[in-house]
Amino acid sequence: MSHEPWADVDRYLTDLLVPHDEALRGVQAAAAEAGLPPISVSPTQGKLLHLLARLKGARTILEIGTLAGYSAIWLARALPPDGRLITLEYDPRNAEVARANFARAGLADRIEVRVGPALDSLPAIAEEGLGPFDVFFVDADRPNNARYVEWALRLTRPGSVIIVDNVVRGGAVADPSSADPSVKGVRAATEMMASDPRLEATVLQTVGAKGYDGFALAVVSGETS
Ligand code: SAH
Ligand code: DHB
Ligand code: MG
Repeated sequence: MSHEPWADVDRYLTDLLVPHDEALRGVQAAAAEAGLPPISVSPTQGKLLHLLARLKGARTILEIGTLAGYSAIWLARALPPDGRLITLEYDPRNAEVARANFARAGLADRIEVRVGPALDSLPAIAEEGLGPFDVFFVDADRPNNARYVEWALRLTRPGSVIIVDNVVRGGAVADPSSADPSVKGVRAATEMMASDPRLEATVLQTVGAKGYDGFALAVVSGETS
């Protein structure tokens, strides 16, 4: 065992429960080759996203923060053949890596990558009438998390699932006086999810290969605007 038992446990559980196929291995290899940071969700978290989308019976999914497309592939694999996932990515180089990965995974017809700041893409998606989305996954720039949750409320419907990654960040989220814009953004979004009457939310702290973090999970319960 290393000094971080949860890393060993995550390895054990990943080998046991989340055997990677060619496409998923290819995603991580392509991401490393393109010099992208190793910050995608872990395999056990990716499978959790997949299971949540399956439980929901999702036909439409929106993701903010594509990177190399690892989480998008887990989510899109829960879709029926006529389902759709739209993923928003700021960096055109990441989007290019992700598109190649989607093609390799045989999911190019189900996934659309939109390049640009998510706060520009979201109004366009609303105007095009592309919602409501059954699953809405937020995993991009934390300072904007509260605005992403507001958009999630506009682009989902009662019964939809909203998931927000990286809401604990090594415990920093418990510091109300933090000046870190990411911590402030995460706190604002989590407080919004807690208080909005349209949402039933919880947060799970996680440990694993990526250290100590957590994700927020909410169900849209009331009327959406
Ligand atoms: N969901 C991915 C990891 C995303 S990492 C996975 O688990 O596989 C965060 C991504 O969000 C990065 O690719 C980054 O370029 C992107 N990003 C950051 N700010 C953004 C913004 N304002 N709009 C859209 N994407 C953004
Ligand atoms: C970072 C971003 C992530 O989405 C993540 O899951 C872990 C780390 C980061 O920017 O450091
Ligand atoms: Mg993340």
